[in-house]
Amino acid sequence: MKKNILLLIISTAIFGSENSYETGRALYNDKACSNCHGTNAEGSGSYPKLANRSKNYLIKKLKQFQKGKSTSQAQEVMFGFARSLNETEMDYMTTYLSDYKKESADKYKLDYDIMGSVD
Ligand code: HEC
Repeated sequence: MKKNILLLIISTAIFGSENSYETGRALYNDKACSNCHGTNAEGSGSYPKLANRSKNYLIKKLKQFQKGKSTSQAQEVMFGFARSLNETEMDYMTTYLSDYKKESADKYKLDYDIMGSVD
């Protein structure tokens, strides 16, 4: 997985900002953010939604977490996760989150002839 991220970062450097989104997506999953904030960054319960929040806000919060600053005790769990991101990774990830597009429904399209399947 680490290798994939590295390749994505390199390809982003070569092909420009279009790949920042994809790199951000990979990081979001690789850094375990999705475990709490949801695979679609939709949040749940005490885990806030991150999808389509402003990039500036997300960066501001993550930088505060890195410095050990929070506005509630519940946020302290974020210190370690925020510190696992470097400046570039934070940039890619917040590009992904702030411009979040729901995964295409095509993923679930049945690409076989349903009439042909026996059951
Ligand atoms: C163990 C669960 C957990 C993981 C993993 C986790 N978070 Fe969080 N996150 C939280 C909790 C809990 C809060 C604070 C909720 C509150 O304010 O009450 C939070 C808050 C945040 C906030 C502030 C949101 C707001 O509304 O102010 C951001 C941004 C954030 N997380 C990003 C991330 C990113 C990026 C990652 C991955 C590097 C990550 N989180 C991983 C649990 C988690």
